[in-house]
Amino acid sequence: MKIGLMGYGTVGSAFYTLAQEHADTQIAALLDLKTHPEVACRQTSDYRSIIEDQSIDTVVELIGGLHPAYEFVTAALKAGKHVVTANKQLVCACYDELIALAEENGVSLRCTAAAGGGIPWLHSLARLSRCDRITAVSGIMNGTTNYILSAMTEQETEYADNLREAQRLGYAEADPTADVEGYDACRKLVLSANIAFGVSIREAEVPCFGISGITAQDVAAFKRLGLVCKLIAHASLREGRVSACVEPMLFPVSGQMAHISGPDNLISLKAERVGAQSFAGAGAGGFATASNVLADCMEIARGCETFYTSLRTPAAVDNAALEQRYYIRTEAGAQSMRLTVNAAHAMAAEYKNKQQPFFMAAVAEE
Ligand code: HSE
Repeated sequence: MKIGLMGYGTVGSAFYTLAQEHADTQIAALLDLKTHPEVACRQTSDYRSIIEDQSIDTVVELIGGLHPAYEFVTAALKAGKHVVTANKQLVCACYDELIALAEENGVSLRCTAAAGGGIPWLHSLARLSRCDRITAVSGIMNGTTNYILSAMTEQETEYADNLREAQRLGYAEADPTADVEGYDACRKLVLSANIAFGVSIREAEVPCFGISGITAQDVAAFKRLGLVCKLIAHASLREGRVSACVEPMLFPVSGQMAHISGPDNLISLKAERVGAQSFAGAGAGGFATASNVLADCMEIARGCETFYTSLRTPAAVDNAALEQRYYIRTEAGAQSMRLTVNAAHAMAAEYKNKQQPFFMAAVAEE
């Protein structure tokens, strides 16, 4: 396999190193705005020189963000090149279009590293969705927020210091807003739900509340109650209706969720025949994510070119039936109340508009 690598950030540089270790993944050219003296292959800042290079059969896109990644990936697919990407924003926003383009051009589009970092979550989900009926996907899908929340709980440190450390360690996105506000987990959820349920739901329809408002006092209050806070993405399919949501959730300190610390993810599914399955491991970080990218490349090289799903029925997100207990903290203090997901997220939006302090977390029910 001859690869055109696009992007040389945390994941791109780790992928470059890993690919060197395998004779069947040869990097023919690197696209980046800067030149890197340690890189031995041809380097360019013009994506067309990769697209027009007939010797390159696979483009690995690790630039991230919507643009110009969209233009580069669509050009590569139209030029008959396989594409492997870890770009959840791009795949979440343009999944239907990119899959159709790949199909039209007889090439493969793979994005296993777009959700779960180094965990082969999407791959396992796609595999199972072909032979069983998956009814729920849920869990910790963002490494940065799990790193921050674990450190706040274990070391009783402040939110801002831990966010800086997560950025330094290469877990956070270039703009960490997507991590801390839950958008990154939301994109991974949309991708997971679409593959699991064979639907096409939209990111904009998923209520999403992140952790940027959490304080050391909230964490201390949870600890006194024997609870820990995690950012959870969950979606389910019931009687043809898809519900989906991203929000902080409180779990017993003695349970499995509480023990997932640092940038690790724990993602689970429920299916009619196989029952419940969970996948845990490094959810962020250069080498973990790059290893999933490399595994996708190797599968393509072995001739496994199947697509994640070709069933993409448009579906509206419907959370009307979801109700749970919430911890709600405003300037007036903290209280616990039972609310529908829609009501809780509407309250969060109201406080955000008023720019007033607010934090909420659902209390997980067994
Ligand atoms: N910023 C992402 C995270 C990277 O923290 O989970 C892996 O997708």
